[in-house]
Amino acid sequence: MTNSTNTSFKIGGDLEVNRLGFGGMRLTDQPGNYGPFPNWEAGLELLRTAVMSGVNFFDSARAYGPLTADKIMGEALEGLDVVIATKGGLDKLSAQSISFDGSRDKLLREVDEALVNLRRDQIDLFQLHRIDPETPLEVSVAALAEARGDGRIRHIGLSKVTREQLDQALAIAPIASVQNRFNMAETGDGELVDYTAKRGIAFIPYGPLGANPMRQGARLKPREALAWLLKRSSNIVVIPGTTSMKHMLENVRAWDLVNSRGE
Ligand SMILES: NC(=O)c1ccc[n+]([C@@H]2O[C@H](COP(=O)([O-])OP(=O)(O)OC[C@H]3O[C@@H](n4cnc5c(N)ncnc54)[C@H](OP(=O)(O)O)[C@@H]3O)[C@@H](O)[C@H]2O)c1
Repeated sequence: MTNSTNTSFKIGGDLEVNRLGFGGMRLTDQPGNYGPFPNWEAGLELLRTAVMSGVNFFDSARAYGPLTADKIMGEALEGLDVVIATKGGLDKLSAQSISFDGSRDKLLREVDEALVNLRRDQIDLFQLHRIDPETPLEVSVAALAEARGDGRIRHIGLSKVTREQLDQALAIAPIASVQNRFNMAETGDGELVDYTAKRGIAFIPYGPLGANPMRQGARLKPREALAWLLKRSSNIVVIPGTTSMKHMLENVRAWDLVNSRGE
């Protein structure tokens, strides 16, 4: 049995990651996370410095950019021993508009595209970004299970789901992670954190610093907010989003705050 100050978690039972990871949505143009990150070289350096600082879990999605967050991560992290998670089933059409498609053929095409953009032979964790209102969850999860079966995906994750939806998905395939909004000021999914913890499923809270997804700026004190999450449950893997070297280096030091409280 682990305790909440363990520094690592095994996603899917086998991919061991530092529980303090990196969120890639902000490595895009602003506002709206639409368009490539304007300072591409600085973005590459930020990601590589994160690795040198001990970060080995990176969260992306085809919707970020779209596709450009996957591309910058693929370029920066090529050949490095890190775990990259991406997402599909949601497309960004403009800074303000999105569309959903969780059909089998679209998801499988997206898996193939992500393999190219991430420069990988296998996607460590492919998360269904949103449940498509037009496609039964079972159909989307079965498609990802198919990609897992042929080795294109190692693990399947879900995003923005209820416990009931998680159970529905678990009836079709193993689910390695849930990514929902959760932070020290927005604790509505606390029961789901505990439910996933009991099942060895990673809980990856988005908006860990309380930021508005469409606007820049943390709303909580960053290190305090990260330390709170890291202490909340041993299955929580945090992914603070940043475009700033200074902020990334500050965020990885959240462990000091966890440890300084003597637990
Ligand atoms: N599954 C989903 O539907 C979903 C939705 C939203 C996000 N996500 C994922 O979750 C990740 C995290 O969420 P998020 O990026 O929306 O919000 P967040 O991590 O709560 O906050 C990010 C904001 O905080 C600022 N920030 C970061 N570190 C800071 C520091 N040390 N001091 C001051 N400001 C700091 C960043 O600005 P700077 O760039 O200036 O540092 C950025 O504007 C995303 O990057 C993405 O990977 C997933």
